[in-house]
Amino acid sequence: MLFRSWAQTADAHWPDVARVSDHVGVAHLVVTRHALVRQVLTDPATYRPDNALDAVTPIPVTALRVLAGHRFRLPPTLANNGGASHPAIRAIVADALHPTRVAAQRPWLTGLVRERVDGIAATLDAGGSVDLYAELAADLPLLVLARLVELPDAPVGAVKEFARAALELFWAPLDAERQQALAAEVGSFHRVLREFAATGGGLAGSLRAAGHPPDVVVGALFFLLVAGQETTSQFLTLLLHRLTGEPTVLAGLRDGTVGVADVVEEGLRLEPPIVTWRRVAAVDTTLGGTAVPAGTSIVLWLARAGRDPATVDAPDEFRPGQRGSRRHLAFGAGPHRCVGDQLARMEAAVVVAETAPLLDGVTVLREPWCPDNLTFRMPDAFVVRRR
Ligand code: HEM
Repeated sequence: MLFRSWAQTADAHWPDVARVSDHVGVAHLVVTRHALVRQVLTDPATYRPDNALDAVTPIPVTALRVLAGHRFRLPPTLANNGGASHPAIRAIVADALHPTRVAAQRPWLTGLVRERVDGIAATLDAGGSVDLYAELAADLPLLVLARLVELPDAPVGAVKEFARAALELFWAPLDAERQQALAAEVGSFHRVLREFAATGGGLAGSLRAAGHPPDVVVGALFFLLVAGQETTSQFLTLLLHRLTGEPTVLAGLRDGTVGVADVVEEGLRLEPPIVTWRRVAAVDTTLGGTAVPAGTSIVLWLARAGRDPATVDAPDEFRPGQRGSRRHLAFGAGPHRCVGDQLARMEAAVVVAETAPLLDGVTVLREPWCPDNLTFRMPDAFVVRRR
């Protein structure tokens, strides 16, 4: 259940808080209710974020040696930083992703997406098939991020490979051989980041100028390159796939009775790319009547919280603008709430607006397939053809 939680049908009998053991015998407390998930996220004194990036499959010595060989370190910077340095680091990152800077990228992104959609339409018109993940969703978020934040001069493909390797290494059930291969991939890119962190401008330069040590600059870039683009690529793929099965929504977008922003929010609620997120209990406490000893790993089932009948009228139906649609927790909550939410929303809005007319007449040849993972969906492809 833990590694394919999105495949679980919404079962009213699921307890609010359930103890579930993982593949290596570690017990987690899975929290399903919107109110309880929110309670945990907004109470950092009781539930710390320290375990947010812990490997769910303990990394064996062989793979640790590979990481050490690359001088890999990931000190607490953003998502896993419950310490005093977090607000200052977060403020610098938030500045780089300020809504006015995000809005300024919109015309450029719209032009690029239009160009891509024209090419895709031509292929479909000629009877061909198109992988909307590869042709549209995979690289757009990284291209936008690179315009907002100076990034190492690495090819798009190399960044995507590194980011997906990191999501697998830290959040997937794995064997030792695979861990070693992933450690080599993640470690070698870490080296690229380290060099860039020492000299790069933009965000890296601002963090250095504020006195943050090199490890922190690397940690922030590492997290941004993973969280700041893979998540949105995954979301775009899942949302476009969902929309091909929602003809009424597509018709509403076409005749203007359904708003693009409402579609994006309902997409985030029903198809979040991050299905769970972790915290660790800092003290002995109780949650929803369940005793929680200090040190317990808490798995917050964000995707399920978005379908809580207590907060939304029709939990399993894609109804843009319905009551409760925007109350999802896809971006978390509290002091670690996603700092890239406006960027992700802008990107999704542009892609939905430009792609919806195309989706109207397609048939799905290949649905996105998602590997086992505690947290990320990681769809691999989404192939369509004209009906
Ligand atoms: C649909 C896309 C995205 C989703 C669903 C998403 C979701 C999340 C979630 C669940 C968290 C943890 C929140 C918490 O602990 O309360 C988070 C944190 C974060 N996200 Fe996102 N995210 C997305 C896109 C982005 C983008 C585009 C960026 C930046 C370019 C970004 C940057 C961050 C950062 C820096 C944090 C850590 C914030 C902190 O600890 O202070 N995310 N995100």
